[in-house]
Amino acid sequence: MSRPLIILGLESSCDDTAAAVVSLERAGKAEILSSVVQGQTALHARFGGVVPEIAARAHAEKLDLCVREALEQAGIPLARLDAVAVTAGPGLIGGVIAGVMCAKGIAAGAGLPLIGVNHLAGHALTPRLTDQVEYPYLMLLVSGGHCQFLIVNGADDFLRLGGTIDDAPGEAFDKVARLLGLPQPGGPQVEQAARGGDAARFRFPRPLLDRPGCDLSFSGLKTALLRSRDAIIREKSGLTRQDRADLCAGFQSAVCDVLTEKTRRALIAYLARNPACPVLAVAGGVAANAVIRAGLETVVADMGGRFVAPPLALCTDNAAMIAYAGAERLALGHRDDMTLAARPRWPLDQTSPVMLGSGKKGAKA
Ligand code: KG4
Ligand code: ZN
Repeated sequence: MSRPLIILGLESSCDDTAAAVVSLERAGKAEILSSVVQGQTALHARFGGVVPEIAARAHAEKLDLCVREALEQAGIPLARLDAVAVTAGPGLIGGVIAGVMCAKGIAAGAGLPLIGVNHLAGHALTPRLTDQVEYPYLMLLVSGGHCQFLIVNGADDFLRLGGTIDDAPGEAFDKVARLLGLPQPGGPQVEQAARGGDAARFRFPRPLLDRPGCDLSFSGLKTALLRSRDAIIREKSGLTRQDRADLCAGFQSAVCDVLTEKTRRALIAYLARNPACPVLAVAGGVAANAVIRAGLETVVADMGGRFVAPPLALCTDNAAMIAYAGAERLALGHRDDMTLAARPRWPLDQTSPVMLGSGKKGAKA
């Protein structure tokens, strides 16, 4: 029996510096031997968003420390690795360059193959790492920087069915939190406030539901909430706790309705191509939202499918997903060389039209 591939992965495309070691057996079974993530939330907190220059410097300072810790925790020396995989895009370019340069240094120094990984492919292949999901399956990426539906046919074969034309949903949650004076990251705060709220008091729009297809839009929702907030403030010169809860509940319910209806359409489009029992997998911080998650689960169950949600630590940015995607690429015989370039934009599906919009967390590809 041949021994498993052991891959070191590096991730630095946004505001998390991460390194991980993952093993992949020929039969497809993967194991995370270590996964180190150093967030930068505190560094950016007073600026109200990720500052690309600050992020890039922090990545350059922390990457080698994360790598050392990941190797130590895994108990794997450099000489035992089969390759170094690194996020080569899409993302904030300074951070991506820091990761690619670090990976090149390790690969050249240790004489290892170098593998460039698309960050979105890392998210999209995570259900295979955590749940050994077979190809093909439908993927919904919903985070602060991404929002798209993908049919995942293989490690290098993605079909984009649709995505956001402006903000990502997590970005909208964060903006709404800011408008209501709640702390960042806004998603969990808005969800918590919404628990005591009446979702029917404000009827926010359900953007793009009147148009066919799987594209989404979230920026208008945030503007609608702003108008309702200002109307209350004009009337009563301030917001009560109940007003805030009702605004949050109304907003969350609108996001949930849009995501579940677009997911239903994406499942129909998926089934037209792959008539067997569909699997819908989710990734991204917004998948932590219990109301949205329950909505997605219901729509998948109604259509006779299976819902897969990897543990939250692997839904959000991490390097285990990059190491795993690198291992799949290596197993297919792909490898890069020292000409590997960092790419700010890198659509997974090269055949679909380029998406619009670029949020606080960088290009959405
Ligand atoms: O995947 P992630 O950790 O980072 C990237 O965006 O790459 O996602 C973070 C986003 C933030 O915008 C955060 O507000 C949102 O996910 N989020 C949530 C919840 N938890 C995190 N949004 C809604 N409800 C939640 N419970
Ligand atoms: Zn991500």
